[in-house]
Amino acid sequence: MNNQMPSAEIRRHGSAGEDILQVERLSKTFTLGRTVIPVLRDVSLKVRLGAILAIIGASGSGKTTLLHILGALEKPSGGSVCFQGRDLYGLSAGERAQVRSRKIGFVFQFYHLLPELDLLENVMLPALSGGNAQPAVSPRERALSLLAAVGLSARAQHLPMELSGGEQQRAALARALMNQPELVLADEPTGNLDSVTGEQVLEYLFALTRGEGRTLVLVTHNSAVARRCDRVLELKDGCLQDA
Ligand SMILES: Nc1ncnc2c1ncn2[C@@H]1O[C@H](COP(=O)(O)OP(=O)(O)O)[C@@H](O)[C@H]1O
Ligand SMILES: [Mg+2]
Repeated sequence: MNNQMPSAEIRRHGSAGEDILQVERLSKTFTLGRTVIPVLRDVSLKVRLGAILAIIGASGSGKTTLLHILGALEKPSGGSVCFQGRDLYGLSAGERAQVRSRKIGFVFQFYHLLPELDLLENVMLPALSGGNAQPAVSPRERALSLLAAVGLSARAQHLPMELSGGEQQRAALARALMNQPELVLADEPTGNLDSVTGEQVLEYLFALTRGEGRTLVLVTHNSAVARRCDRVLELKDGCLQDA
């Protein structure tokens, strides 16, 4: 049951269209000393190009672990992840790192901006490792236009600590989009923000992904947020199911 394509997917998108992600029978266990922690048991999933998918689930259900595996950050114990038709964990570590930095953008709950760099430098950072996806536009110009897109033009020279949580998360959003990633992974991006600020960050997130046809996988605790996505799946007992 759990390795079938969820029915909401079939209803919404039909059989045509391109899958950016194909996940087959994923499992993940962590071992701490003699304790084996089974986190993901059997996760299969297809994500259509341009779709916005929400993943919900109780704390500790494995949402972050799954997102890290989808984003080429953490090797699964079993199963496979195909991203744009390439088996992510069949690649060498170097090739995988290249896919990650060029094609995937991450937004984390606690922003993870580098404290000693100003906002412009933080946003430009992915261009150092990912290369310039838009050779006609310099990384600086692209970073400035992204900062403008999230309403932070006036704060480009400020350090993260000089900004509010919502502003830091908007900068982190700009950074995630720096290399024009096909896939954006967001792990409870509003989890640390009050509801009004969180709503504002989400508007930017939706506008900058849906508006540009990017695929978004969003982990959220908030059911109102999940309802705004094309699909909602729940991680429970190590498996994904329609919510
Ligand atoms: N690196 C790790 N080593 C050992 N256990 C881990 C590790 N990462 C996550 N876990 C365990 O896996 C389970 C799922 O964690 P996580 O993916 O962070 O859940 P969620 O994001 O849904 O709250 C938890 O029980 C957590 O303790
Ligand atoms: Mg988590």
